[in-house]
Order: sequence, then C-alpha cells, then structure tokens
Amino acid sequence: MSTQDDEKRIAAHAAAEVVEDGMTVGLGTGSTVAHLLDALAERSLDIRCVSTSVQTEETARRLGIRTESFDVVDRFDVAIDGADQVSPDFWLVKGGGAAHTREKVVASSADRFVVIVDGSKLVERITAPIPIELLQYGFASTVRRLTAHLDGPVVRRDVPVSPDGGVIVDFTGAVADPADLAAAISATPGVVEHGLFGPELVSAVVVASGTEVRWLDATA
Ligand code: A5P
Repeated sequence: MSTQDDEKRIAAHAAAEVVEDGMTVGLGTGSTVAHLLDALAERSLDIRCVSTSVQTEETARRLGIRTESFDVVDRFDVAIDGADQVSPDFWLVKGGGAAHTREKVVASSADRFVVIVDGSKLVERITAPIPIELLQYGFASTVRRLTAHLDGPVVRRDVPVSPDGGVIVDFTGAVADPADLAAAISATPGVVEHGLFGPELVSAVVVASGTEVRWLDATA
C-alpha cells in the first residue's frame, strides 16, 4: 500500500516531466517539493531555478540544481509547488511551511503554475487554518483589526519570522467563501500576504492516489 510520502514522490516525479532544458523554473517549498528536486536532479537538466525558501535553496544546491536570485529573473516558464488543500474549483491553501508569500509571488510570475499533491490534499471545501504573513510593524494592532474584520480568531504561529521579516499567523475561523475571505484579508493594512491562492493562478494539479496519477486541468 502506498504511503502519503509515496504519493508525494509519484506526483512530483510526474510533474518534473514538464520541465525541459532552457527553462526558467520556480521551485516551491515543502516535503513534496523535496521529491521534485530529486526528480529534477536525476534528469541533469540545463535550467535556471529560483527557490521560494532557504530550505529549498539549500537542498537544490546540494543536488547540483542551479539556483539564481529572484533579482535577476523576472518570469518563469513554469513554477511547481505543493499545497495544503485543493478544492474542486481549484482554490488552494498554502503556507503550512510559512513560505506562502514567496510562493505566491513566484506562482504569479510563471506562465504555468503546476501544483503537486498527494490524495489527502483534495478537499470538498476550503477550511481553516488559513496562513497569513503580517508586517512586524504594528503586528498586535493588525491581529486585532483582522480578528474584528474577519469575525474569527487569528492566532500567532510558533515559528520564526519569515526570511522577509514577516510574522506568521493563522486565521482559524469559518471559511464561508474563499474569494470573500481572500479579499477581506488583503484589504487589511499590515497584511503582507495570505495563503489562499485563487484558481486564476493555477494551471494544473497533479495528484497521486495510490500509484495512480491524475492531471487536473485548472484552465478548462
Ligand atoms: C509551504 O509554505 C507550503 O505552502 C507547502 O507548499 C505546503 O504546505 C505543502 O507542503 P508539503 O508538500 O510538505 O505537504
């Protein structure tokens, strides 16, 4: 029987096949992306990559994958990343590893954003927790205003600040509509970025269930 980690590996290796020599590639963060890095390294491709976290950067370098600063790359042919939740209408929740701000910038800069998940990540509807990165400046005030505006708890996560100095919190209240919630969070001064990724960002979701791989086209 396949484990969740087997499914992550199978989805990651399937998605790695879209990467070709000469491409610029955005690399996400997390345990599924760790398998993607293995798959890319095995193929010894001539590609230019940008990492969304220190963790991905270190692993990529160790595997011999060429990474560059995001200062010198302004678009990607493809970005590939994991997710915490994928709904039937292709809303994502990301940020379980607190890297969602960089991940969203990279996904938004890609011609194709391919999401790689094990079967457990497919959900009927999006639920909390929803990760949010806040400016450190005025942090307590932003939490208070967010809590009132969203009408639900906002809880600081016990993790270090992000590489960009942001404080990571989670909205743990009810999610009636992801689009409404995303708009409400974004409208709150002091918010850097939240972990709700809208369907317009997503090109495809590669999901492994057991040994079966499915490509879900999010653009259809
Ligand atoms: C990192 O902040 C997250 O967005 C990850 O992409 C997400 O949590 C998926 O992680 P795993 O691949 O480890 O499940």
